[in-house]
Formats: sequence, structure tokens, C-alpha cells
Amino acid sequence: MAPASIAPFQARRQQLIALMMEQGGGIAIIPTARELIRNNDNHFPFRHDSYFYYLSGFSEPEAVIVLIAQAEQQRSILFCREKDPEHEIWDGFRFGPTAAQSNFGFDFAYPIESLNDKMPELLADAGKLFYSNQTEPHLNHQLSQWMQTVRGKSRSGISAPAITIDVRELLDEMRLIKDPHEIALMQRAASISGAAHARAMRHARPGQFEYELEAELLHEFRRHGAQAPAYGSIVASGANACVLHYQHNQAQIREGDLILIDAGCEFDSYAADITRTFPASGKFSAAQKNVYNLVLNAQQAAMAWARAGAVYMDGHHAAVRVLTEGMLDLGLLDKNIVGNVDDAIAGLAYRQFYMHGTGHWLGLDVHDVGRYRDVQKMGDERPYRRLQEGMVITIEPGMYVRPADNVPEQYWNIGIRIEDDILITADGHLNLSRDTPKTVAEIEAEMRSATSVCPA
Ligand code: GLY
Ligand code: MN
Ligand code: MN
Repeated sequence: MAPASIAPFQARRQQLIALMMEQGGGIAIIPTARELIRNNDNHFPFRHDSYFYYLSGFSEPEAVIVLIAQAEQQRSILFCREKDPEHEIWDGFRFGPTAAQSNFGFDFAYPIESLNDKMPELLADAGKLFYSNQTEPHLNHQLSQWMQTVRGKSRSGISAPAITIDVRELLDEMRLIKDPHEIALMQRAASISGAAHARAMRHARPGQFEYELEAELLHEFRRHGAQAPAYGSIVASGANACVLHYQHNQAQIREGDLILIDAGCEFDSYAADITRTFPASGKFSAAQKNVYNLVLNAQQAAMAWARAGAVYMDGHHAAVRVLTEGMLDLGLLDKNIVGNVDDAIAGLAYRQFYMHGTGHWLGLDVHDVGRYRDVQKMGDERPYRRLQEGMVITIEPGMYVRPADNVPEQYWNIGIRIEDDILITADGHLNLSRDTPKTVAEIEAEMRSATSVCPA
């Protein structure tokens, strides 16, 4: 299917061409992903390459975008599969070059089979090559053959691109600032995902298996038209919540467990990434509530830094401070051993219970592209960059208390993370996942609301 509007995709191609012109012009080659075999003759569901999709809105496999940015001509070209009535009976509709060219607004479109013939012509005297040999390496071998062909014509005065620039340097910066089309899709992804979390809360019961809640998430994603989970859903009950990348989702949920769900859908290629933690029984215990409110306070402290001009790591530092103070107050850290708050932060004592960062860029990829640090300096001392309007970040502090001799037993196996998707705006931020129940009162109310409609 063609996207409802092709204008944003055309605008991005124009923008990339303008950026290439600033670097003296050249030719960009951006292939989509390859189809991957799952086993025997059975494929994984196809997911286009994010860079390719960002510039085209085209989601068929076996396709390549070529952009020409030269003073005398600027062109966008799509190579794609020919129409094929026989294959279309088995695998469904294909646009074919003629319809793809008009539906997706390219200047030209050609069959993918003509790529090997056309590319040496297009690369001849093209200027710089804008290409990444890492995103979809299956094209690297073909590219080196095309370059050889062009170099073979040097005696006719034709030259092959002598300088290659990683096209991701340009595209990553573009993708970091979301345009209105992207923001609308990310809001939709976050709203559907929030509804899925609320559904899981309403359906949760002690005695169930984690995968039953995973199924509720998927039900909500798909019934609203989201194509897939944006990453493997984490449904972690009890001690499993302290395993950061838990995705087994096979355990039985017990009375008294907390359930940590980290799940988001992909809607029209854009990801949501939301985490909520709630009690299986519908009511937080006193110890669970202590830790929960601590993580919530840490998230609020980080969110206060979610605004244009703040440094990317300001939010993390704010969250770490609140969490560390709380760890000392709750007796999880012993001030006789780790010292005061500043000492515990400087000595990284908090990492016993909080060992990950407080967020990441979010977009077409759940861990989206874009630099986190300034490029002007080298090494680990490079300062983190400042937030700008149009960036989307997650804010996801947590606490994970595994059983240990120095830890009061009432806190053992409490694993809590709270994660929201935050758009930086002109005057602060917009929480895209704002409708997902979050406070203790909101979560307990959501869980209570279930009893009349879906009895255990
Ligand atoms: N769900 C992956 C993450 O939170 O980063
Ligand atoms: Mn995340
Ligand atoms: Mn997450």
C-alpha cells in the first residue's frame, strides 16, 4: 500500500539531496532490507530497512533508492520488482516500476533486474558516493563490481567516485528531528501501546502465565491496526522483573508478584516503547509502593529536564540522584558503607539496583539512530548534545532489587521500571504515552475496573 501522503517522503529526499549538495554533490544509494529465511523455505515477516522507508514509504523487498545531487541535475530513482502475475497469485500485489514511480513520487523507476546495467552509468562522473556499507551489506559486492566497471573506463576520461561518505551521517541527523507526519504516527503508536498496557492490567490475575498477558498486548496492538510489536515484549513477573532483557514470558504469576511489562507496538513503521509495573493482585504492598513511588519520583525529576536546551544526560543525573537518596532512605544502601548521597553517586553504589541508562532516542527504530554526543571533540570526554524541538526520547528509570545479604528481605525480587515516550516541543515536552495508567492510584483503579467486566 502507498502511504496516505507521499509529500513527507518526497520532502525528505529533497532535504537529503540539499545536504549532499552542501558537501559538493554526488550520488546516494540506499537499499532496503533483504528477506530473511526463518527455516527451510519459510521467511521471517519482511521488515523494510528504516533508512530506505524513511525516504520512500515503499515497503516491498528487493528495492533500491538512488539519488543524484549534481549542479546540473537532481533526480530521485527507485529500482523495484517488476509486476509478475504468477508471483502475485502466491505472494500478493506488487507495484511494479511504472505504478511505483507515480504512487511514490519518484522522477524515474526501473526494474530491479536493471540495477547492474544502470549503476555503472549512474556512477560515472557522479561526484562523491553517499553510501553505508553496514546497513544492508548485501549490496557491497555488487557496488564494488560497478565501481570496477566505471574505473575500467578511466582512459575515456570517466571517473568513479573517489570519496565515499557514510550516508547515515546525514540521515541520522535528519531522523533525529521528527517532522509532523512522524509525530502523528508516533502518537498513534504510543496511544495504542498505552491501551495495550491498560488492557494487560485489567486482565492480570495471579495463577496466569506471563504469555497470557503477552497475548492481551498483541490483541490490542493488532485490533488497532498496528503491524507488529516494535520489539520482543517483556512480561516479567516476580524475580523475572529483575532480569533486564527477560523475554521468556513462560512463568506462572503468583499472588504478591509485581508484573513488569515493557512493550510497544510498531504503527506504520514507528515504534512506541512503554514500561509499566503493577501488582498481580491489584494492590501494591507497602514495600512495593515505597519502591514504586521512588522510581516514579525519579522519572518526574528526569522529565523536568525534557526540554530544548537541556543536555541529554541531565535527566539521567536527576533520576540517579533521586534514586540514590531513596536507596539510602529505604536502607537498601548503608550510609556507613557507601557514604552520603554524593559519595554513593560518585562511587556508583546505586548501580547495585539501577544499572542502565535513563533513555534513548525513539523513532523508526526502538533504539533510534542519532548521535548522543557532540561530534566536535573526540573520545569519552565529548560532551553530550543538547535536546532540540522534534526529538523523541524515552525516560525510563527503574530499580531492580535482587536478593542479597545487604538488602532487607521485604524488598527482595522487586523489579520496577516506568518508561514513557517524550517529544521535545518548543516550550517543554509532550508525553506521547500520557494516557497509560501510571500512579499507584491510577493503576489500582484500572485493575479494579476489570472485575465487573471480566471475572477471574
Ligand atoms: N524496550 C527496550 C528499551 O526499553 O530500551
Ligand atoms: Mn526503552
Ligand atoms: Mn522499553
